Amino acid sequence: MSRLKSKLPGSGTTIFTVMSQMALEHGAINLSQGFPDFDGPALLRERVSYHLEHGHNQYAPMPGLPELKNQIALKISALYGRDVDPIDEITVTPGATEAIFCAVSVVVQPGDEVIVFDPSYDTYAPSVILNGGVTRHIPMVYPDFRIDWGRVKDTINPRTRLIILNTPHNPSATIWRQEDIDALRELVTGTGIYLLSDEVYEHIVFDGQPHLSLLRFPELAERTFAVYSFGKTYHATGWRIGYCVAPRSLMAEFVRIHQFINFSTNTPMQYALADYMRDGSAHHLELGAFYQQKRDLFVQLMAESRFRLNKAAGTFFQLADYSEISDEADVEFAGRMTREHKVAVIPVSVFYEQPPKQRVIRFCFAKGDDTLRQAAERLVAL
Ligand SMILES: Cc1ncc(COP(=O)(O)O)c(C=O)c1O
Repeated sequence: MSRLKSKLPGSGTTIFTVMSQMALEHGAINLSQGFPDFDGPALLRERVSYHLEHGHNQYAPMPGLPELKNQIALKISALYGRDVDPIDEITVTPGATEAIFCAVSVVVQPGDEVIVFDPSYDTYAPSVILNGGVTRHIPMVYPDFRIDWGRVKDTINPRTRLIILNTPHNPSATIWRQEDIDALRELVTGTGIYLLSDEVYEHIVFDGQPHLSLLRFPELAERTFAVYSFGKTYHATGWRIGYCVAPRSLMAEFVRIHQFINFSTNTPMQYALADYMRDGSAHHLELGAFYQQKRDLFVQLMAESRFRLNKAAGTFFQLADYSEISDEADVEFAGRMTREHKVAVIPVSVFYEQPPKQRVIRFCFAKGDDTLRQAAERLVAL
């Protein structure tokens, strides 16, 4: 047999799996992978059990359960002032991850260029490469992680097909400002460039700031695939459920691809989420305050450490500069933290094509307060 040629020769196992595994092996507190160590609302879980027991265990409709899509449309209208057709402009997917892959597949033809901002979430580049596209990486650097829009302008060329955006941003925990929206609008207006807006942390924004969804801006929404995650919103990353919102003509192609990748998304969770959202839960509206309390606790606990923290503006991640503690590269430092100090973290350099010289690691604070206290006790001793 001829030797198998990898389509992703540059990719190993994702850092999240590596660090979570290492945390397990070394008995470390796992502040690496982005998932909560607590469950979502009891009522929502009760609705899942109900539907499991009441015959909702077969294929859901391919583009998503209509009842759930209606609730999503109502939420988008209430939060972002955009009227979306639940039938033709929303698809429920097995996590935001599948939605990202399908959206990239819709627009990227071999040789097309896609702009991503580093540090970038680790599924973007592989999704582009598997579709024969070429990524153009634009770095954002610690501590501000602002987008250099002049550089974006210089990178755009006739082969540019898609720009992948993410706000609130993982891993930098920054959020977009109005001037970012204005700059983006100026650059893409009159071009054939599409936008993929990863908004999985839409509800986790702090200090009274708004989430600037691209769905709020009609001139941007008309070229945008906006991607969301019920896993992040309802503390249920293992349920693998999210959705994509896009204009009718884009969604028609999206669905064409989605049907051959996963066909549909799990049924009882869709019924349960539809019930829970319909019954007027304010869970999503309270999520920002819930995580802000955790951010504040963690930042306060770390105040006496030698790590330097700029408060997260959104997401459930907190970056920390460790240059006062060590001059090791972040991958080595993260490994040593896990093995010797029993706190697992994510090195930020792995999110870059060409890592800048910075000594920064990412903590996930979606953990019980006692876990955060215990971790901070170990970190303060460093
Ligand atoms: C920025 C970003 N996008 C997408 C995802 C994937 O979301 P899901 O678990 O719904 O597939 C994550 C998960 O960590 C993320 O951080």
